[in-house]
Amino acid sequence: MSEQPAWIFGYGSLIWNPGFEVLERRAGWVHGWMRRFYQGSPDHRGTPEDMGRVVTLLPDAHAQVWGVAYRPAPHELAHIMARLDHREQGGYAHARVRVHAPDGAVLDALTYIATPQNPYYLGDRPLDVMAQRIARAYGPSGLNRAYLFALEDALAQAGAQDEHVTTLAHAVRALIDE
Ligand code: BEZ
Repeated sequence: MSEQPAWIFGYGSLIWNPGFEVLERRAGWVHGWMRRFYQGSPDHRGTPEDMGRVVTLLPDAHAQVWGVAYRPAPHELAHIMARLDHREQGGYAHARVRVHAPDGAVLDALTYIATPQNPYYLGDRPLDVMAQRIARAYGPSGLNRAYLFALEDALAQAGAQDEHVTTLAHAVRALIDE
């Protein structure tokens, strides 16, 4: 892997809201990572005083994560990356991943990962504690729970299982139905 990849991989809000023009969209799996709602959001789905929870990837040799790879026009890539860097500035860094498409193609892609070293990282907590935060938090991009439910919907439409997302969504729904 050397030069800038042609693809951008989304496993969170980029799945349903890329916010940029693309030449191609391909769903696929990335091996060796699992999706977790462990990153604090002080700027989109929460506030600095009451952060929301959004997704990041954690390394796990036995896991795989489903998402969507986008290929923008080459001359637009730098501009799109600059916009995404601004949009995702709350603790995320670039990473390179290989996206396995259903037809066997392997796409070299850039993605965003928030590691435990960043200042907004919330990490693992008991399910009820995470669910309470997601049920309550609200930020400039909207309700934290709307983000969770949109991700749950996108995964269900794609037939892509993610037990962590499903379990959290059920727990949040139980709280808001109370
Ligand atoms: C995404 O895949 O939608 C995404 C996840 C974390 C940071 C930025 C984008």
